[in-house]
Amino acid sequence: MKEFIQSLPKVELHLHIEGTLEPELMFELAKRNKVDIPFNSVTEVRDAYNFHNLQSFLDIYFQGANVLIHEQDFFELTWAYLLRCKEDNVLHTEVFFDPQAHTERGISFDTVINGIHRALVKAATELNISSKLIMCFLRHLDEVSAFETLAQAQTHKDKIIAVGLDSTEIGNPAGKFERVFNQALEQGFLTVAHAGEEGAASNIYEALNLLKITRIDHGVRCTDDNELVKQLVTERTPLTVCPLSNIKLKVFERMEQHNIVSLLRKGVCVTINSDDPAYFGGYMTDNFLAVNNALPMNKTEIGQFTLNAIEASFISQSEKQRLTIATQSYIDQHQ
Ligand code: ADE
Ligand code: ZN
Repeated sequence: MKEFIQSLPKVELHLHIEGTLEPELMFELAKRNKVDIPFNSVTEVRDAYNFHNLQSFLDIYFQGANVLIHEQDFFELTWAYLLRCKEDNVLHTEVFFDPQAHTERGISFDTVINGIHRALVKAATELNISSKLIMCFLRHLDEVSAFETLAQAQTHKDKIIAVGLDSTEIGNPAGKFERVFNQALEQGFLTVAHAGEEGAASNIYEALNLLKITRIDHGVRCTDDNELVKQLVTERTPLTVCPLSNIKLKVFERMEQHNIVSLLRKGVCVTINSDDPAYFGGYMTDNFLAVNNALPMNKTEIGQFTLNAIEASFISQSEKQRLTIATQSYIDQHQ
């Protein structure tokens, strides 16, 4: 099954590019950019990755992002992630970035997006990996800052498919960003949002109703509400689930208790994603393996995660068809 999972075509829909910063690159950039980091070695950094909830992770995540200064840094960060995608046979990826994590430190929006975008373009030609870019607003910041960020994105609309919402869920309800999301929708952006990660199932309803989101990032707390699960099945609303992240951030204590396989069997459009792989101990293949080790599935079920991700992606109908055929024939050939 390991070989089947390793070579299975994959599509990633929930990946924070800042969360792919491996300690080795963090050190290299800290040195190159003369940024102080509170660690003396790569081992010390990895030892600090013991989180007890989302906030304890976010503190370290924003601290790590401080080493990213120049366009080239953002390019190298993104390129390193795309090379990992190639190893895991990820054919398409939809990448989040957090502009405010950088503009708040005086780095320009253009520097950030141009570096990331250059790597994505190079991957399309050199690695045959397609991509989309999703701009997230940090929900712990205010509406004014989100509007400013949306304004900065105007000259880069051709590079951004959707806006999203991440960072601290508890205490920062979706409603705080209803007006920003409405403006983004009017401007032609699609919308997604983190909801029901550590916050309640009601946050999922709120994100769906107020922010008009096309898919829910995480959403695993939906199982607290049977009616909501039924609605997700009927409407085929996708959930971008991040299994290793959920264990690291104690959303579930053990992978055996994770609800992803049970949601799949109920007919919810669940997908497997890596969230912040440098911090949570694994990229796409690692996430698939971790789920299957704890909650064994057959090959059709494992393949369904990719078919769901293709369905939930923001690519054209013809691209969806092409990837679906490739994935289905891989599954059929390996029965
Ligand atoms: N930013 C990066 N990873 C995140 C997560 N899992 N939840 C909320 N915000 C995030
Ligand atoms: Zn996330």
